[in-house]
Amino acid sequence: MHHFHYRDNELFCEDVPLSQLADEFGTPCYVYSHATLHHHFTVFEQAFDDVPHITCFSVKSNSNLAILRLFASLGGGVDIVSGGELYRARRAGVPPRKIVYSGVGKTKEEIEFALREGILMFNIESTQELEAINSSAAGMGIRASIALRVNPDVDPKTHPYISTGLKKNKFGIDIESAVKAYERAKNLDHIEILGLDCHIGSQLTEISPFVDALKRLRLLIERLSGIGVNIRFLDLGGGLGIVYDQETPPHPHEYASAIKEELSGLSCTLIFEPGRVIVGNAGILMGKVLYTKRTLSKNFVILDAAMNDLVRPSLYGSYHHIQPVFRREREMEMVDIVGPICESGDFLARDRSLPMMQPGDLVAVMSAGAYGFSMSSNYNTRPRCPEILVRGSEAHVIRRRETWEDLVSLESIPVFLTAPPESAPDPTGR
Ligand code: LLP
Repeated sequence: MHHFHYRDNELFCEDVPLSQLADEFGTPCYVYSHATLHHHFTVFEQAFDDVPHITCFSVKSNSNLAILRLFASLGGGVDIVSGGELYRARRAGVPPRKIVYSGVGKTKEEIEFALREGILMFNIESTQELEAINSSAAGMGIRASIALRVNPDVDPKTHPYISTGLKKNKFGIDIESAVKAYERAKNLDHIEILGLDCHIGSQLTEISPFVDALKRLRLLIERLSGIGVNIRFLDLGGGLGIVYDQETPPHPHEYASAIKEELSGLSCTLIFEPGRVIVGNAGILMGKVLYTKRTLSKNFVILDAAMNDLVRPSLYGSYHHIQPVFRREREMEMVDIVGPICESGDFLARDRSLPMMQPGDLVAVMSAGAYGFSMSSNYNTRPRCPEILVRGSEAHVIRRRETWEDLVSLESIPVFLTAPPESAPDPTGR
């Protein structure tokens, strides 16, 4: 469900015509629907409202301050994976006791920052990290609350780059070694064991891998209780998939009932780390056609939006539905939708049948709210897009477009190069 729909053949976000946003803020730009964000978060929350839980939105999927503030105002926490994400979350007003921190490579500075902020728990991914967190906490004279992230060796049946719960992945502590790692944690003076964590992958479209992982975690929780380790928080990560094309992912309610069934009799507070399922279909990337070009083998539609704005198609071969902002009676043609970046890998869609496009036409790249802006870059010295949040008939700029000046503002030319190039000889002799 989302609030991007046609009215009289023109695509709107809630009550705002997208063409109006293009006129006002230019293209390319990201547009988010407040009603969709609100709805998705609330549906997820409600699916678990009969069990103690915290919904910790995954900041990596969309880290804009306004979006984090919205979920915090709805009672959410966050899942972070860096000091920068912690900084954002705190700036957005997320309470520290609703923050969980995963990631295989936390630095000493990041660990100390998180300890100072008093986050709910670190999801620890290796025994070396456990020792590092213990010594940082010792240095500060406090105890660090932790969970161990275990790798349950379950196949999430998703793209290999976004599978995380298989033995061969770098994430978590393998489940066979987990008891030993908890024993070690128990003996560390500056560690307080709070929970158990697992995240098996992203864009899962079936329930069974979640259930399989949970069965393994339950057995582990029983074994841990046998050695006097009491798991109070069970973090099941994120990963619930969305519809990009023809997928049929479970509804959050189906996901919730499968999980709750598997948990009966267990008295932990559950933590979830959803990202994509909350924001994915709540955002689009709008671009404008610059040129169309026919070659001997292909028809290209060249947009002002590119792989630096949305890297998912280039990086994972992901499908994003593309639709014209104005629906007109036009012949269909098979096209590649590409951007201005100097790489053949710069495409947003390939071999797509779309109504014939002309320069100046606006297009919406759908389902771009998750891992869209947050993975965007300045490649080819392209300023990153603005982000616009629509609420009813209002449009709010929640991140302005970068300028060329912004892009060079962190760079400096060393003194030995300060002679202005204008004084160098002109090779044309003029
Ligand atoms: N928790 C942890 C520890 C994670 O690593 C992730 C995602 C999540 C939660 C949120 O997962 P979600 O609910 O969004 O599936 N860039 C890729 C996705 C990478 C996912 C990384 N981890 C993409 O564009 O598909």
